[in-house]
Amino acid sequence: MSASLPPARASAVDERRIKVAPGEARFSGEDGPPTAAWTYNGTIPGPALRLRQGQPVRITVENGLNEDTTVHWHGIRLPNAMDGVPGLTQPPIKPGESFVYEFTPPDAGTFWYHPHADSLVQLGRGLAGPLIVEEAEPAAFDRDLFWLLQDWRLTKDGQIAGGFGNMMDASMSGRVGNLVTINGTVPADLGVRAGERLRLRLANASLARMMALRFEGHRPVVLAIDGQPCDPHEPEDGRLVLAPAMRIDIVLDMRGDPGSRHAVIDDFYDGLAYTLTNLAYDKAFPFRSHPLDAPLALPRNPLPEPALANAVRQEVVLQGGMMGGGKLASVGGMMGMGMPGMNGGAAWAINGMSMTGDGHAGMAPQFTLERGATCHLTIRNETAWWHPMHIHGFSLSVLSRNSATVPHRQWQDTVLLAPKDVIECAFVADNPGNWMLHCHVADHQMAGLMTVFRAT
Ligand code: C2O
Ligand code: CU
Ligand code: CU
Repeated sequence: MSASLPPARASAVDERRIKVAPGEARFSGEDGPPTAAWTYNGTIPGPALRLRQGQPVRITVENGLNEDTTVHWHGIRLPNAMDGVPGLTQPPIKPGESFVYEFTPPDAGTFWYHPHADSLVQLGRGLAGPLIVEEAEPAAFDRDLFWLLQDWRLTKDGQIAGGFGNMMDASMSGRVGNLVTINGTVPADLGVRAGERLRLRLANASLARMMALRFEGHRPVVLAIDGQPCDPHEPEDGRLVLAPAMRIDIVLDMRGDPGSRHAVIDDFYDGLAYTLTNLAYDKAFPFRSHPLDAPLALPRNPLPEPALANAVRQEVVLQGGMMGGGKLASVGGMMGMGMPGMNGGAAWAINGMSMTGDGHAGMAPQFTLERGATCHLTIRNETAWWHPMHIHGFSLSVLSRNSATVPHRQWQDTVLLAPKDVIECAFVADNPGNWMLHCHVADHQMAGLMTVFRAT
C-alpha cells in the first residue's frame, strides 16, 4: 500500500449547474426530426446527476424559461427549504434568475429531479432528469443502466400537443400520451451479452402513464423501490408495476442464448400491450459461463424505524374524479382558484378539501406531527381511478394493502392505489417543515389531489 493522501473530494462540496431553457428533443435519434421541448442543460432527459451518499452537493439552477420554475429532488430526504415547492418551501425562480440548492443526500439509490412549478406543462414539455446517489461501496454488477421512461402526447407533425389541463384529462386518467421513450429516444434494442449481470434502474417520469414491464425469458429480481433497498424478490407474475414517479431497481441475469432476442413488454392497460424494447444478445460466446453469485441485497439506508405502538394515526381520503355516467363526484371545500369542471378548476379532493395548482404560500397543513413522532398513515382511495400518492421529505414503510401485509420490508415515497384500495404505512416525522403529499399524476395534482402536512 502506498501512503497516498486521502482523496480531497471526500469532504469537498460537489458543485453542479443546471440551466433550464427551451431546446429540442430528438425522439428518433440525433439525425431525426427535432421536437420543440424544454430542457435541462439542453438535453432530454436532463443530465444524469451522480451524487455520493453523505457528500454535500450544491446545485445552481438558472431559469432560462419565460415562466417561473423550481427543481424538486424527488425522493431525497433533504431540508425543507431545498425541496423545490414554490410558495411553500421557496420563492419560485423567476425568468433570468437562479436558485442554489444545497443538501447532503442521506440515502443511496435511484431518484429523479423535475420542476414543481406549472408542473403539468413543464414535465409534459420534457423537464425531468435521472439522479443517482451512489452507495459507499459499489455493488457487484457488470453494468449499471438507468432507464428514464417518458410518455409524450404528440401531434401528427411530431410536436408536443397543447391542451394541457383540460377537464377530460384532469378528471379521468390524466394526460396519457402516444409515444414512450427511454432516455429521450424511441428505444432501439438493448445489446446484452450472455452471462452478464445488469443493474437496471427504472424510473417512470410520465405525467400519467402507468407501466407494467415484463422481461420475456428473464426473471428480474427487485432490489430497491423508490431508491430504498428491500428484500430482493421476484415481482408477482414477473411484472414490474411502475406508476408515475416510481422507481424500481432490478438485477437482470442475462440467461438467454447468444444471438437470441427477447421482448420487454408493457402490458399495464388491458388490451393495449406493446413492446417497449428488446434485449438483443450478442452472438459471441458467453461473457461469463456462470452467472455472478455475489449477494444481491443492497445495503439498507439509514431510515428511522417507526415505533408503531406509540404512533399517531392520520387518514388521507382521496375523493372526486369522474364517476360512472360522466358525472364529476362532488368534492367539498375548494381551496384553489377556478370552478369545478373548468380548466384549472378542482376535480379531486383530499379529506374534503381541494388544493389546486403546485403549492402556494400559506397553505394550511392538513395535520401537524411532533418532531420524532411516528405517524401511522392510512390512505384510502374512494375514487374510481388509480393514484400514485407521493410524500415529500420522507419515505414510507408500507405495512399493508387492503389488509394484506406487504412483504419484503418495502419503503416507498410513492405508493400506487388502485380504485378503492386502502394502504397502511408509517414514517417517523424527523424532518421538520411543511411537506407536500399529492398524487403524481400531474393532472390530478393540479386539479386538487394534493395536501400539505407539517412536522414541527
Ligand atoms: Cu416528484 Cu411533488 O413530486
Ligand atoms: Cu417529491
Ligand atoms: Cu391521481
